[in-house]
Amino acid sequence: MTEAVREIPLSRPWVDEREEELVLEVLRSGRLSLGPWIERFEELLAERVGAPHAAAVSSGTAGLHMLCHFAGIGAQGPSAVFGFYPNKQMTTGEGGVVVTHSEDVWRQIVSLRNQGRSYGEGGGWFHHVRVGFNYRWTDVQAAIGIAQLEKLDRILELRAAAARRYGELLEDLGGIEGLPPDDAKHRRSWFVYVVRLGSDLDRGDVMTALRREGVATAEYVPCIHLQPYMRERYGFGEGLCPVAEGVASRTLALPFFTQIEAEDQARVMEVLRVAVGG
Ligand SMILES: Cc1ncc(COP(=O)(O)O)c(C=O)c1O
Repeated sequence: MTEAVREIPLSRPWVDEREEELVLEVLRSGRLSLGPWIERFEELLAERVGAPHAAAVSSGTAGLHMLCHFAGIGAQGPSAVFGFYPNKQMTTGEGGVVVTHSEDVWRQIVSLRNQGRSYGEGGGWFHHVRVGFNYRWTDVQAAIGIAQLEKLDRILELRAAAARRYGELLEDLGGIEGLPPDDAKHRRSWFVYVVRLGSDLDRGDVMTALRREGVATAEYVPCIHLQPYMRERYGFGEGLCPVAEGVASRTLALPFFTQIEAEDQARVMEVLRVAVGG
């Protein structure tokens, strides 16, 4: 009997007993939404990023939607959005947060996420002062988020160490370009690990070879202007952004997550080395 190939996933969230403990507390509290956990998370997150206001929302996309189309991006002081999908540095399953220096933007987001209900603008619960959305979060997500924030420093440390290890392993591998290390002025918060293949290599073949050996990989990231919607809606096609197209056609993501083992990274690189004929 042949031994099954052990899969190395592309990403995997780090959740443990602490998330379980806090989620259980929420479940037992009887308040699953619009409860105190969301506010607690928002306070902790705002403190962490050094912004006065944070509003948790159902996804990063929801945050961007409200900020760009309604609350006036950049118009009233710097604002930013974070997404907490499970491949991100920290996760809440799904979810996102808008952080802002503008109290006005924050008030609008808090109202927009809750169907445009009044927030400090008078009236009762069913008092809608604008057309909004249901982009609310749950307290279950907030509980996961609080546990993730508690270990965020460790998460960032481990991801930086994993990125460093890939960088070192790639030094011995010709035909593949890794990511540059941080310089004196910049420190990255590592999200995904993407490599660029030399133009003599066929990316499809390399990806098939990786997957055959249980190493997950993905084309990362495709050009937006070549997505079917953009082609149909705007008539975009190949040749519009040659540099981006050239890069996008030769890049792929390798398994990368907080708790990836050094030994698994070495296996990824060994499989990659064979796949590129190194
Ligand atoms: C860099 C980046 N920004 C934004 C998003 C969208 O966030 P969300 O999935 O929470 O809507 C994603 C994908 O999840 C992403 O990778």
